[in-house]
Amino acid sequence: MENKKKNVFSGIQPTGIPTLGNYLGAMRGWPLLQKEYNCIYSVVDLHSLTVRQEPAKLRRQTLSLVALLLAIGIDPEQSPLFIQSHVHTHAELAWLLNCYTQFGELSRMTQFKDKSVKHPDNINAGLFCYPVLMAADILLYQTDLVPVGADQKQHLELARDIASRFNGLYGDVFRQPEPYIPPSGARVMSLQDPTKKMSKSDTNPNGYVLLLDDTDTILRKFRRAVTDSGSEIISTPDKPGVSNLMAIYSVVTGKTTEEIEKDFDGKGYGAFKTAVGEAVAETLRPVREKYNDLFKNKDYLQKIYTEGAEKALQISQRTYLKACKKLGLVLPQ
Ligand code: TYM
Repeated sequence: MENKKKNVFSGIQPTGIPTLGNYLGAMRGWPLLQKEYNCIYSVVDLHSLTVRQEPAKLRRQTLSLVALLLAIGIDPEQSPLFIQSHVHTHAELAWLLNCYTQFGELSRMTQFKDKSVKHPDNINAGLFCYPVLMAADILLYQTDLVPVGADQKQHLELARDIASRFNGLYGDVFRQPEPYIPPSGARVMSLQDPTKKMSKSDTNPNGYVLLLDDTDTILRKFRRAVTDSGSEIISTPDKPGVSNLMAIYSVVTGKTTEEIEKDFDGKGYGAFKTAVGEAVAETLRPVREKYNDLFKNKDYLQKIYTEGAEKALQISQRTYLKACKKLGLVLPQ
């Protein structure tokens, strides 16, 4: 990373097939940033252990996600793509940073509070310290920009606080990362309850669209999407259902809210929901086709994530060793 380009890092958990929310909020931007920035992307499998996973399923989902990230256009020649647990500096830096993060700070994380309510019988230390591991992921690569959805903003702020606290004590070790949140699609809502974020852990599968759903399923889920009273296609806070569909349609077609309002003036919800479903299905079809080819080729996937981990280790080790040295740890000779 000797060139002048800025550094980008982001990650996604292999907890299932990503949703349209994951895609529009974060993943879609990842390949687009490759030309202008030094990008590194990771399947963050260690993060997913904070909630119980079925081992065989986790293994499959991790490989599947590597294939899917390649299918959306990540070019591994330009952007190292790796599995988090293959690069030991992540867990190691997380330990160091744990010692510079306060209990009170972690207690305020809304995702921790939400997940504690959802899994009351498994409020483990990993779940509590999860944002510190995320800070380590980011800070290891001297990251400038982190492309994420709006729900990760609070974690990013914590990463910035940890970085400035550490730098304040020991001098310049970490660069201050900024969130890179898209203007549209940063918070895609459930198709069944537009006051809730679209999430693959939703008990009602009609609430989310998965990136690998086939065209018929996508069309059906959009036809069933909950809309609001009235029949006008306008984006306002008192029409959360229609506003959500408009945001989705705007990202996948590139049309502005005004253009959409004009195009669908007087056409009613039914026609609009069909149009949104068709546009999403057309966007996801080529991704699914590429994915199906890539997922069959396990040797190729292995080559990509192995090389990605080698590069990521090399880059991240510089920061990790610098942090160790500043703290007074004796470095291995
Ligand atoms: P994760 O795996 O839950 O989600 C991956 C990305 O998808 C975004 N996202 C959404 N965006 C818009 N609308 C939605 N409904 C929606 N649901 C999810 C998330 O904001 C995220 O960008 N902690 C992270 C993973 C992580 C990470 C990192 C990210 C670990 N280390 C370092 C960036 C940098 C997470 O759980 O994302």
